[in-house]
Amino acid sequence: MGFWKAWFSNPEAVNTTKNTSVEEKVNATANNRAGGTPIVFSTEREIDLYELEELCDAVGWSRRPLRKVKKAIEHSFLVASMWQVRGTQKRLIGFARATSDHAFNATIWDVVVHPEYQSKGLGKALMKYVLKQLRTEEISNVTLFADPHVVEFYQGLGFMSDPEGIKGMFWYPH
Ligand SMILES: CC(C)(COP(=O)(O)OP(=O)(O)OC[C@H]1O[C@@H](n2cnc3c(N)ncnc32)[C@H](O)[C@@H]1OP(=O)(O)O)[C@@H](O)C(=O)NCCC(=O)NCCS
Repeated sequence: MGFWKAWFSNPEAVNTTKNTSVEEKVNATANNRAGGTPIVFSTEREIDLYELEELCDAVGWSRRPLRKVKKAIEHSFLVASMWQVRGTQKRLIGFARATSDHAFNATIWDVVVHPEYQSKGLGKALMKYVLKQLRTEEISNVTLFADPHVVEFYQGLGFMSDPEGIKGMFWYPH
């Protein structure tokens, strides 16, 4: 049974479906900050691409071709989403994904929280969820590329810029 089918047929069942994919409710503090309605995390990768596009639009990201977004999600090691649940309605309010060599390294991409839900501790909760999933898979080296305005957000989660002087380097086609 798919995650949402399980959730809606029995809201209490969310913790009993862990063997098919990992879902968790955020702690009570985060729920309170989100107005008391349940916030749920999922690693289910069947994300509605239009809903994801809407979320990315809301933070002003440039649009990307959906067929490529679909491919990126399919080939990601981890897809994490954060949902607000109200009765039978669910709303995608956060997203992140990670690519990996499945052994040592993972890189986190596309971290986003809907503006209406920002500054409530949910970005931090989403990142902690992602890191927990990666640690479960015994990935020990986690990297990401931070936009300049969010460096402090990631530092607050323990990420370091240029550890031991190591520089991220980029190549772009001319
Ligand atoms: C970056 C983002 C994911 C943070 O999510 P959020 O839910 O607002 O963050 P939180 O409320 O969990 O903040 C956690 C901590 O980080 C800090 N923080 C959040 N955004 C920050 C920022 N832009 N700069 C510095 N600190 C920031 C908060 O003050 C908070 O600090 P505290 O733990 O000391 O209280 C969210 O602002 C977002 O989606 N931005 C647009 C998309 C984006 O830029 N993504 C990153 C691409 S690299």
